[in-house]
Amino acid sequence: MIGRKNILILLLIFIGFNISCSQKKAKEKQILNVDTVQKKTAEELVASKNTSDMSYKQLMNILNSGSVMVHQGIIIENKQMVIEGAGLILNHAAPKENPWFIMHESEQENFKNSLLSYDIVLDNYAKKLAEEANNEDWLKASKTAHELMNSCIVCHSLWRYKVE
Ligand code: HEC
Repeated sequence: MIGRKNILILLLIFIGFNISCSQKKAKEKQILNVDTVQKKTAEELVASKNTSDMSYKQLMNILNSGSVMVHQGIIIENKQMVIEGAGLILNHAAPKENPWFIMHESEQENFKNSLLSYDIVLDNYAKKLAEEANNEDWLKASKTAHELMNSCIVCHSLWRYKVE
């Protein structure tokens, strides 16, 4: 016999399950889609960052330190190290000169598009990494760190040989 009390319990379980599903979806959305909807120009992207007097190469070396920290943090299971490494990638300042100036004029518009799309890609991986490390999900974090590194390398294979 299914009593009234049991039906009530089943109903509560059902409601609880739905709430947790929709919270999970909202969280995923937060990690993956935050920036993908807004379409900035490269000028707006640069203006949205803190200013600095470093070169583009020096900025790249900061990104490199961030990814080294991320990898090291994962292997020694130090979540704060991963979070802070990801922070270096997320919160980097803009270089003193517009980054596209390192390319020949005929390539600048294309490089601007790469800057815009990779900024979103790197930010999303960095956010994901911070979250996975925070959950001590080292296997997932390791996979994401690999994907992050791979995006760096893809951009390099497209652009480094074109620097003037
Ligand atoms: C938008 C494309 C792009 C992305 C994305 C990118 N890079 Fe670079 N990176 C470049 C270019 C272009 C250079 C060459 C700069 C130069 O020679 O002036 C470079 C150079 C470098 C260098 C060499 C710097 C030096 O002192 O010679 C390092 C290290 C580096 N990148 C690390 C990274 C890391 C780590 C990531 C990912 C977290 C990353 N880059 C993502 C375009 C990119």
